[in-house]
Formats: sequence, structure tokens, C-alpha cells
Amino acid sequence: AVDIKALRGQSGIITIDPGYKNTGSCKSAITFLDGEKGVLRYRGYSIEDLAEKADFLEVAYLLIFGELPNTDQLEKFHNDIKAESHVDEEMKKILDGFPKSAHPMGVLSSLTSALIAFNPSSVNVSSEDEMYHAIVRILAKFPVLVAWTMRKKKGLPLDYGDDNLGYVENIYKMMFKKPNKEYQKNQIIIDALDKLLILHADHEQNCSTSTVRIVGSSHAGLFASLSAGISALWGPLHGGANQAVLEMLEAIAADGGDTKKYMAKAKDKSDPFRLMGFGHRVYKNFDPRARIIKKAADEVLGDLGVDDPILDIAKGLEKEALEDQYFVDRKLYPNVDFYSGIIYRAMGIPVEMFTVMFALGRLPGWIAQWKEMRVNGEPIGRPRQVYVGENHRAFVDLDKR
Ligand code: ACO
Repeated sequence: AVDIKALRGQSGIITIDPGYKNTGSCKSAITFLDGEKGVLRYRGYSIEDLAEKADFLEVAYLLIFGELPNTDQLEKFHNDIKAESHVDEEMKKILDGFPKSAHPMGVLSSLTSALIAFNPSSVNVSSEDEMYHAIVRILAKFPVLVAWTMRKKKGLPLDYGDDNLGYVENIYKMMFKKPNKEYQKNQIIIDALDKLLILHADHEQNCSTSTVRIVGSSHAGLFASLSAGISALWGPLHGGANQAVLEMLEAIAADGGDTKKYMAKAKDKSDPFRLMGFGHRVYKNFDPRARIIKKAADEVLGDLGVDDPILDIAKGLEKEALEDQYFVDRKLYPNVDFYSGIIYRAMGIPVEMFTVMFALGRLPGWIAQWKEMRVNGEPIGRPRQVYVGENHRAFVDLDKR
């Protein structure tokens, strides 16, 4: 700790806490998690109950407005969203400008930012009404951007949603409808998608959420804050882990399926390899979402009749890690991303889209956290540092260096 002189003669201390491991950045009433016990609750409701009994739109409402909606509230919310589902045609030109090989997370973050230009009234929001409209607007348009991003990757024509469908089924249709073919509903995939989105919907002050709050604290606007959050989520140590997990499992399979070899690599400190999908900054016990997803992976693959050897490799790694002293000592358990990619793959979603699916699920959480930060009138986020560079030095002219 270093003494500082703060404004108006007050003094304080700067604490150095790399990675903010022990720093609370705000007070929040949205998500509770107890990493030692493996507990996760949204607004007081357990993640197990919500994943079993609620749908994603109800959970979005709960996170953003604090209470589960009644039938009328839910219907109004959904209607307000549907009324905003159009995305400006010009946005298609922006998407067109990206090469097909572009990573979908980069595309999504750019499109989310570009959306500001077409919805300028969503930037300077201060009243409750303006805030509500910015929120329903992004909840309506973001799934369209997600679907377009995937269709671009797959070389499919871009489409709009269908207002007659539920929120998640509409997303499913926008993503999967084949051109010139009748729409085929797949309830197994829709239900699994709903559950995965709920499980990803919020997770208190993680890297991307903290990014959303800190960008929003400068009053940059909701869409700009979300775009920054998407970039933060992209990294393989955060949301990008779901892509990295599947790539790792595929690499192990291609290498003969020797899980022990990769366990050894993960423990070897001279090797930068980490077992992707293992470990968590806060959970030092089983990630409760991983338990639900593991069960869902078994069910979905069974229901879809998919026999994926990757699932066996994942289960093998999990079993070995849970019995391994290195992992036990460091309390490294499978996290939410360990099994989600296996389900997304079975659904026919390209691996590079996995983190985009995470972003889609996290959207209501980011919105809720942004709204809480603005409603509470939190000050601009501005951490300090402990300077460790050179003391004052005399300037050296260019010809003397
Ligand atoms: N494989 C092997 N060793 C690991 C792993 C892993 N996946 N994760 C952590 N460790 C080891 C570290 O080497 C370190 O060992 P040491 O004490 O001997 O030096 C110890 O466990 C603690 O690790 P830290 O990196 O200090 O823990 P931190 O809390 O900073 O990191 C993180 C958490 C980033 C999630 C880390 O566990 C990791 O890199 N996991 C793999 C990536 C991943 O799955 N990310 C998704 C997280 S969930 C999410 O964002 C949705």
C-alpha cells in the first residue's frame, strides 16, 4: 500500500491488487455467487431453479428489472422488443465489408458499435423511459446481429426474425432456417439453447461485465459499453474458452485421445498449455453451471442421436483432473465452458461462433449491470497505480542519444 494525497487534503492509500482479485468495484443486487460452496443465484433465485423452470426472456427481465415478470409484464416486454427488431439495411453493407474469414466476435463487436450510428437516441440516455427503450432496442437487434454473423460465416442469405415466435425460437429460426426450404422447428435444440443462454446470463463482476460497467461509467452509452464487453469476452481466458475447449478436445482426439499426455502438459510449468475449461477465478468448487451443462450435454446428444467421441474425451479429462493432486490442490474444477461447446457443436454451430453464443446469453446481464451502475449514479471508474518507472530525468536531444 502506498500513501497518497487525495483531493481537498484528504489522504488515502492505494492498494495494489493485480487482477482485482480482492477488490470490490461496486455494490450490486443482481447476482450472488459463493465460489467456495459453488452457489449461483440471479436476484436471489437459484440457477438450478431458473434453468429448470424459467425461460431466457423471463430471466432477462428478472436480471434487468429485479423481479420475475407476471404474464402481462412479460407480454408487454416481448411486444416492445418485437417492435424494435428491425436492423437498418445499411448495416448489411458493413457486414458485407468483412471477409468471410473474420472472427465472429470481432464482427459482432463492430456491428454492435456500428448500431449506435443508426440509433443515436440510444446514446445519451438518462431518464427511465430512454433507458428502457435503449434496452428493448438492443435486446431486439442483438439476436439479429448474432444470426447475421453466423449466416455470413456459413455463406447463407441474411434474414429477419419472425414476430410470431418466442424470443429464443426466433433466434433459432434466424440462425438455422435454410434458404428456399420450409422452416423446421427443433424443440430439443430450442430448449437446450434456452438453458445455455440462461446459464450464461450473468456472473457478477467478471472481466467483460466489469468492462461494460467501466466503459458505461464514462456515460459512453449502452451499445458502446456492450461492444467493449464483447471484446473483453473474446479472450481465451474468459468467454473465448468455449472455443478453446473444443479446439483442445479436437486436438487431443486427433492425437490419439491420450488424455494423460495432456494432463501432464497442463501440470508442466515450463509448458504454457493449460487445460481449457478448467479453473475459475471465483469458483474453488464445482461451477454449478458446469453440472447443469454436463447433464444437458448428455441429454441433448442423446436426443439428437449424436455419438460424439469428444464427449468421452471430455468426461475422461474431468475424471482424471478430479483425482489429480495438482488440480485438487489448486481447486481446479470444470467451468461453464467445459461442456457448452460440445452442445453447440451438436446443434451445428461453427466453433468460432461459440463465444458469440456466450455473448448472446450474457447480454441481459451486461444490460442489468450497466443499468444498475447508471441508476446508482456511480462515479467514473478510474483506478490508480503505483508508479515504478524512472525518476525525473534530464531530456536528451535526439542527436545525443
Ligand atoms: N490448467 C492448468 N493449470 C491451471 C489452470 C488450468 N486450466 N488454471 C489455473 N491453473 C493453475 C495455475 O498455473 C496456477 O498454478 P500455480 O499456483 O502453481 O502457479 C494456479 O492454478 C492458479 O491459477 P491462476 O491463473 O493464478 O488463477 P486465476 O484465478 O488468475 O485464473 C482462469 C483463472 C483464468 C480461469 C484460469 O483458471 C485459466 O486460465 N483457465 C483456463 C481458461 C478457462 O477455462 N477460462 C474460462 C473461465 S470461465 C469464464 O470466463 C466464463
